[in-house]
Amino acid sequence: MTQADIRVAVAGARGKMGTTTIAALRSAKGVTYAGGLVRFSASTSGVEFDDLRRLIAHARPQVLVDFTHFPASKDIALAAIDAGVRPVIGTSGYGAPDIEALRAACSRTGVGCVFAPNFAIGAVLMMKFSAEAARHFHHVEIVEMHEAGKKDAPSGTAMATARRLASERAAAKLAPFGRAPTALVRADGARGAEMDGIGVHSLRLPGVVSHQEVAFGGDGETLRIAHDSASRASFMAGVLIAVRAARDLKDFVDGLERLL
Ligand SMILES: NC(=O)c1ccc[n+]([C@@H]2O[C@H](COP(=O)([O-])OP(=O)(O)OC[C@H]3O[C@@H](n4cnc5c(N)ncnc54)[C@H](OP(=O)(O)O)[C@@H]3O)[C@@H](O)[C@H]2O)c1
Repeated sequence: MTQADIRVAVAGARGKMGTTTIAALRSAKGVTYAGGLVRFSASTSGVEFDDLRRLIAHARPQVLVDFTHFPASKDIALAAIDAGVRPVIGTSGYGAPDIEALRAACSRTGVGCVFAPNFAIGAVLMMKFSAEAARHFHHVEIVEMHEAGKKDAPSGTAMATARRLASERAAAKLAPFGRAPTALVRADGARGAEMDGIGVHSLRLPGVVSHQEVAFGGDGETLRIAHDSASRASFMAGVLIAVRAARDLKDFVDGLERLL
């Protein structure tokens, strides 16, 4: 460790994303893994804590990467902001009011926060390219696929994409998205959920890490923009970008795109 290293703690340190993040922090330059937040600490290693205040007091992190579960994640992030520690949040399950609560906490305290529904660079570009397409197509459906054990649906990426596409059309003063009606639905949910006029379909299967396709339909044509994460390593470049940006951040950043 050098003087300039960023001290980073990880909430959800024993989870799948938490352990991958700790390994990435340990092999990256300019950052130091300072300690982990776990639900129940049986550790005697001295770097894991089951209480955020004790973690902050002992590990003195500047940035806290959060890969836990919602709503615990929101409580952790708001408490971190109040303690002057900048959260980098990857946990999914946040709704629009929860995101606004984070934004308000940042403006009240001047402590920044990065909220990133997806840290994979390709997924960020998928959302950006989809936003461009949203200005040209009136019909769109989102299909996302994640591991069978994922606790929430739709995925944070799918919800962020739907919000982004709808606001893109609103900003361009275009009619909201329309959904083709189905006269006879033989099984509930066959057309998926609806968010901002967009059909959202969540598939849960063993063996999958993360996949999303944004399918646009026009007269006689379709445009499909898809992204796959084949392993959790795909998220680590984005996590490190967010951590490095977060150290001196004073406001709320919604999505990784602004930091690329
Ligand atoms: N933004 C992205 O790019 C991205 C990528 C992948 C995943 N994710 C999201 O990241 C989150 C974590 O995913 P994962 O696959 O790592 O899940 P996971 O394996 O279930 O890990 C979550 C960890 O958080 C712990 N935890 C839950 N509540 C806690 C609390 N109050 N205090 C401390 N620790 C707590 C869990 O402990 P217990 O086991 O005791 O419950 C578990 O160890 C999910 O919301 C997922 O959708 C985001």
